Amino acid sequence: MGRNLIIPGGTRIIDARGKYVMPGGIDPHTHFECELMGAKSVDDFYQGTKAAVAGGTTMIIDFVIPRKDESLLEAYERYRESADQKVCCDYSLHVAVTSWSPKVKEEMATLVKEHGIGSFKMFMAYRDMFMLRDPELIETFKACKELGAIAMVHAENGDIIAENTKRLLDAGVTGPEGHEMSRPEEVEAEAVNRACVIASQVNCPLYIVHVMSRSAAEAVDAARRRGACVFGETLAAAIGTDGTNYTHKCWKHAAAHVLSPPLRPDPDTSSVLLNMLANLLKSYKPTTSDTKISGWFRELGMTSIKTYLELNRISLSDLSSRETSRSLCKSTNLIHETPKPPKPGLFFIALRDSVNCPLYVTALSSKSAADVVSSKRSEGVVLFGETLASTVGIDGSEQYGKDIEKGRRYVTSPPLRPDSTTPTYLIEHLAQDGLQVTGSDNCTFNAEQKALGKDDFSKIPNGVNGVEDRMSVVWEKGVHAGIMEPTRFVAVTSTNAAKIFNLYPRKGVIAVGSDADIVVWDPNRKRTISAQTHVQAVDFNIFEGMEVHGVPEYVIVEGRVCVDECELKAVHGFGKFVETPSQNIDYVYCLIEDREKRPRGVARTEAEAKKHAEEDAAIA
Ligand code: URP
Ligand code: ZN
Ligand code: ZN
Repeated sequence: MGRNLIIPGGTRIIDARGKYVMPGGIDPHTHFECELMGAKSVDDFYQGTKAAVAGGTTMIIDFVIPRKDESLLEAYERYRESADQKVCCDYSLHVAVTSWSPKVKEEMATLVKEHGIGSFKMFMAYRDMFMLRDPELIETFKACKELGAIAMVHAENGDIIAENTKRLLDAGVTGPEGHEMSRPEEVEAEAVNRACVIASQVNCPLYIVHVMSRSAAEAVDAARRRGACVFGETLAAAIGTDGTNYTHKCWKHAAAHVLSPPLRPDPDTSSVLLNMLANLLKSYKPTTSDTKISGWFRELGMTSIKTYLELNRISLSDLSSRETSRSLCKSTNLIHETPKPPKPGLFFIALRDSVNCPLYVTALSSKSAADVVSSKRSEGVVLFGETLASTVGIDGSEQYGKDIEKGRRYVTSPPLRPDSTTPTYLIEHLAQDGLQVTGSDNCTFNAEQKALGKDDFSKIPNGVNGVEDRMSVVWEKGVHAGIMEPTRFVAVTSTNAAKIFNLYPRKGVIAVGSDADIVVWDPNRKRTISAQTHVQAVDFNIFEGMEVHGVPEYVIVEGRVCVDECELKAVHGFGKFVETPSQNIDYVYCLIEDREKRPRGVARTEAEAKKHAEEDAAIA
């Protein structure tokens, strides 16, 4: 890059008109040739990085996970030896700390000081394998802080998972559906919150890997808003597919989606809102302060909801089932005979808690809006939420289809949500900086390896694909869906990881002096994801059949064209190990220093004591 460059003869010119030119993707979370739960992941450092390049990712960060009784340094050397000769693009390493002792602490220091390691991952799950308990987490976080490194956690409550697993197996639930049932959202969110609290107390920067649920994302967001130095990563898998796959009738299909934390079989907007409305009506009890402030309003508010339901001939019990509600809407022609599109209006959540004014929020139509209302209510704000029959009865998926005439009839504001499940929720958080980074957690096992858990879901090796499709999935669900700006796409797929792991500005940006890791992205070209055509070694693709807009037409790895007009030309061993130095002052430790609390006692002088005694005497 530069001005007035002298271009040598024979230089190839790539015409990028009409395309986006952006820094190559950085996938901060892969597990190539990873030994886990009795199996070794099938994408090795060659196949895995080759697939990464095919998808527009020009750098990956993998995890060194020590074997039982292997030291951190030995494990690190083992990974370097294997990866150095195979990688098709640059790579760095995080190191997992799976036990605690003075020796581990020393080795962490050596890794930071002599081997360019800047981040350590601790597991709050995988009990009896990798899990650390709180006192050990505190020690590891303190060690990271001392070394200027970043602590990373796999946040799930391992004790609860063990308990639930036993209960489920005893009850005869052995299939992959038991995986999610044994570790539901709150088991993840609890651990995220606990990790944030511990990190905040020892003032150590924290990076939460694979945030997989709404409540976990909320916990990250809340910690950030409290001022903690916390970063949240979500996965291509969490954005591109969901946990309904665990109930798939084909065992192989269901098991292929097993990873931890699991995908969430999220209820859709309609049922969330239905439940909320049902609970709201059921739990409604006037309180004294309520009455004092707003007797009139309460009556009006509740009458209004009741009237609404009465007018629409919906009873409370009808609301508890989404199916009933759907058919009810149909049978009463609530939806189909609406002569005009449902009335727009009504939807601003002005939570006037500070002026203590009761508030009735009309026409709630999204999960996040509903979340705000219920969380504010639980904080004691006098607040009522209303939703609409149209919102609870149908969603926008068919209504906004090919038939414009028909589609118009459903136009309303806020709009019907075509799909407001967890994936959308996470994308929204990524777009709005509730989460900062997207990884893949690529850890792929073939059908016969997954079959290790044929009779016991807790033995299914955990992990899915994503290193190849991460960029396309985030583009499709974020930018193509209109939720995310292209610039934010670059931030969450590349720049933020570079900044957090101290690779910036060498990586994560196109600038003078940066590595020439560049992607020419064609937003108009489409492709359909399939295991039949993917580069990865694994025999299954969790995004099978997904049509994505946005294809890397050229991928330039350190100045070398490795995807050329969509043709892959990756080179075995072309990449290098890149250090991720500690003491990342510019992007991480500046946040820590800002909030460093130096405990101070109260300074008391003799003179002040004397003055005080005189004052006392004067009063007497
Ligand atoms: O299921 C997963 N995520 N497998 C890889 C190991 C880990 O916990 O990241
Ligand atoms: Zn993990
Ligand atoms: Zn992982």
